[in-house]
Amino acid sequence: MSDGRRAEGPGELNRPRETGVSDGRRAEGPGELNRPRETGVSDGRRAEGPGELNRPRETGVSDGRRAEGPGELNRPRETGVPSDPVIRAEDLAVAFGGRTIFKDVSFEVRRGEIFVILGGSGCGKSTLLKALIGLVPLAAGHAWLLGEELTAANDAARRALLQRIGVMWQSGALFGSMTLAENVELPIEEHTRLPRPAREALARSKLGLVGLGDAAGRLPAEISGGMAKRAGIARALALDPPLLFLDEPSAGLDPITSAGLDDLIKEIARDTGTTFVVVTHELQSILAIGDRCIMLDKTAQGMIAQGNPRDLRDNSDHPTVRAFFRREAA
Ligand SMILES: Nc1ncnc2c1ncn2[C@@H]1O[C@H](COP(=O)(O)OP(=O)(O)O)[C@@H](O)[C@H]1O
Ligand SMILES: [Mg+2]
Repeated sequence: MSDGRRAEGPGELNRPRETGVSDGRRAEGPGELNRPRETGVSDGRRAEGPGELNRPRETGVSDGRRAEGPGELNRPRETGVPSDPVIRAEDLAVAFGGRTIFKDVSFEVRRGEIFVILGGSGCGKSTLLKALIGLVPLAAGHAWLLGEELTAANDAARRALLQRIGVMWQSGALFGSMTLAENVELPIEEHTRLPRPAREALARSKLGLVGLGDAAGRLPAEISGGMAKRAGIARALALDPPLLFLDEPSAGLDPITSAGLDDLIKEIARDTGTTFVVVTHELQSILAIGDRCIMLDKTAQGMIAQGNPRDLRDNSDHPTVRAFFRREAA
């Protein structure tokens, strides 16, 4: 369990590295965490060495809601693509060994929204997530994250971009030998130079954010599955990413715990302005949290619907979409 995270690689991406430094010093409560840091945005974005620990990376990203902030205005737009959507996907295709998983997938994710990727098992939801963050190569198409084209970026730029994104993989386990607080502290320790008391305070504030303030000293084996998911979210949030990917966060949870997790995601989105991309095939979750969604389909090898989940449920004529939302036979 504790080894899984290292082995799978994507776990690394959980850690938007240096950003936590300035955040840590300021972190006082959820509302503080995604606050725009107005200085040095354009410079920070280009800096790549380990020296740039004060890099205010997220600035101007989740802050887009406050588009008048200087951070937003100063932001370089190397790609020529407006930085407005947090994610822009254009005609994405992924194939494994000549087998197309999906093609022609296009959508945008807006700032502060909870965007859901849904569809049956094996339709390519996790693959799309990985393609969006460059872990799986695109056979076609272009993806922009936080205003930068990931696929066009060099290694250093790509790394820097990935540091600004939080990811919780379905298999993203906590380290079993470490308390929850230590688990959350790990990315902070690894990617900031905060002194121990500040790291601990930050970790505790993140655990508080997910309702685990009282469980900070417990080991993963001493908590429920739902609590473990919450702790995983706290860890993904440790360094205040403006964009958070959750791959099937409620998988394996009972319906009540799962509903609680949905509430938590909504709360965090509302209180911090974090943009969420949530992969799920659980209808209740989709309806509860999704501002907008896309639906992938294995047979269609791509997207068969896009929009507000309730609208799709009530109005889609597509047999598979109807079947999914109304639990009918397709
Ligand atoms: N690295 C890989 N190599 C080959 N095939 C893969 C790889 N990753 C996923 N697949 C295949 O791609 C399809 C979609 O997988 P996945 O994205 O995990 O589906 P979902 O998350 O929707 O359940 C599956 O048929 C899976 O077996
Ligand atoms: Mg999956």
